[in-house]
Amino acid sequence: MSNELILGQIDGAVFEIQINRADKMNALTDLMYGQLIEKLKQAENDPEIKVILLRSSSKHFSAGNDLADFLETKFNFESNVVQFLVTMASLTKPIIAAVSGAAVGIGTTMLLHCDLVFASESTKFSMPFIKLGLTPEGGSSQMLADRCGPAKANDWLLTGRNILSDEALACGLINHVMADTEMTWKEAMSCAQKLSQSSSEVLIATKSLIKAEYVDDVIGLIEKEALVFAQRLKSNEAQSAFAAFLNR
Ligand code: COA
Repeated sequence: MSNELILGQIDGAVFEIQINRADKMNALTDLMYGQLIEKLKQAENDPEIKVILLRSSSKHFSAGNDLADFLETKFNFESNVVQFLVTMASLTKPIIAAVSGAAVGIGTTMLLHCDLVFASESTKFSMPFIKLGLTPEGGSSQMLADRCGPAKANDWLLTGRNILSDEALACGLINHVMADTEMTWKEAMSCAQKLSQSSSEVLIATKSLIKAEYVDDVIGLIEKEALVFAQRLKSNEAQSAFAAFLNR
């Protein structure tokens, strides 16, 4: 198993990116967001690549932002985490996600910027920002309501509760539920390969018709959320919540 925290490999016209930090449930650090941006841009700029597939290399998709890293890393609009979300939102090529296990915080919100999401039956999605003294990020404050309806967005963001795959599917947060992690990875790759049989031009033109009109608004929203999030990160409430988790 590679020591790299973010892996990238080409399979035909598909660029597969894997989050590879199993011992910390694929919690994401500043360094890892930087590497994710690099890999996404590599895939976006490579004319041979038509589709991007994002998954983890182990059962849990991601336990969200590394809480120790939150204490150590300066956060603003230029931060890698925010730029990662902006990069995701700006991709012109289709991106498919394969998710299983825990998908916490940004592990769920990044999915709002994916075009198709496959998840295993036992996946637990959550956006527990409120429990950590934080606020919604990644465009989730409005994109969730747009996609799943205000009732669900209010429930999920104000309670921070777990969302199981069936509920996520019924609400349009994800596209497909598979039996287990292996099946999820397999089906997501099979879908990526199928998509990649179309020309890059038609894939990009289709995604552009679906999304391009909203990209600037989404980036503006990510920026607006980041301003509030930066304030919340410095709050005693958030700092105590991080310390409580790290000192369990
Ligand atoms: N940041 C840093 N480390 C994390 C982490 C995170 N977000 N999530 C998990 N880890 C680490 C744990 O500290 C633990 O490390 P250790 O073995 O060195 O002690 C390891 O990953 C396994 O996590 P653990 O909590 O023991 O697993 P679990 O199965 O009991 O619980 C979760 C899984 C996802 C419910 C739990 O880890 C969790 O709540 N993580 C925090 C999620 C979070 O708040 N993310 C930020 C959202 S903004």
